[in-house]
Amino acid sequence: MSFDRTIRIAPSILSADFANFGAEIRAIETEGADWVHVDVMDGHFVPNLTFGPMAVKAFRPHVTTVMDVHLMIAPVDPYIDAFAEAGADILTAHVEAGPHIHRTLQAIRGAGMRAGVALNPGTPAEAVAHLLDLVDVVCVMTVNPGFGGQKFIDMTDKIRCLRAMIGDRPVHIEIDGGVDPVTAPLVVAAGADVLVAGSAVFRGGSAGNSAPYGANIRAIRAAAEATRDAA
Ligand code: DX5
Ligand code: ZN
Repeated sequence: MSFDRTIRIAPSILSADFANFGAEIRAIETEGADWVHVDVMDGHFVPNLTFGPMAVKAFRPHVTTVMDVHLMIAPVDPYIDAFAEAGADILTAHVEAGPHIHRTLQAIRGAGMRAGVALNPGTPAEAVAHLLDLVDVVCVMTVNPGFGGQKFIDMTDKIRCLRAMIGDRPVHIEIDGGVDPVTAPLVVAAGADVLVAGSAVFRGGSAGNSAPYGANIRAIRAAAEATRDAA
């Protein structure tokens, strides 16, 4: 059976109400999220701070789908076990985060998680050429990481290149940054199957009024799937 490349929508809780994470996670899952994307920032690798393993552990009981943890931190290795204990299903490290990404990815799998590798917009596809048998997810950043709500940067050439490099391997291509119903078709046409979206999912709603989350998720999914159907 071939690898399942059904479109998956992964709302980023970076755009959620930071005083209400449990309810926000439950709301996006009720409204159709496939994965829950958790952005960990260290104020060093990126110019912003979010949360660490203790917060991720507190999110865990609220996630019934897949907890997709995106580390924007350097170094990564000292924290891998803590994120495994916190219950991350997927742990993604940046290829730019240190000189020994190969060791990092081995350690993530060794700790029992699925491994992801992320590329900043300025990093070429070739940077992960020798890592594709070590990962379950390649995350292509379509913004410079650090903040939600930034303008989409067109990385479709890189995505096409990665899709060809991945071939039959069981590796998802995840897109992170500025994904909305307008940009989703571009990246899906190029070969992406997992779409992270923060501001485009959370806008207009709240945990107590989650219907807009559902409408936003459906709008992104419909735009992405229409592109697939046309192909
Ligand atoms: C950016 C983060 C993203 C971000 C996406 O540094 O990695 O996951 O939350 O937010 P939007 O969808 O608003 O660009
Ligand atoms: Zn992210």
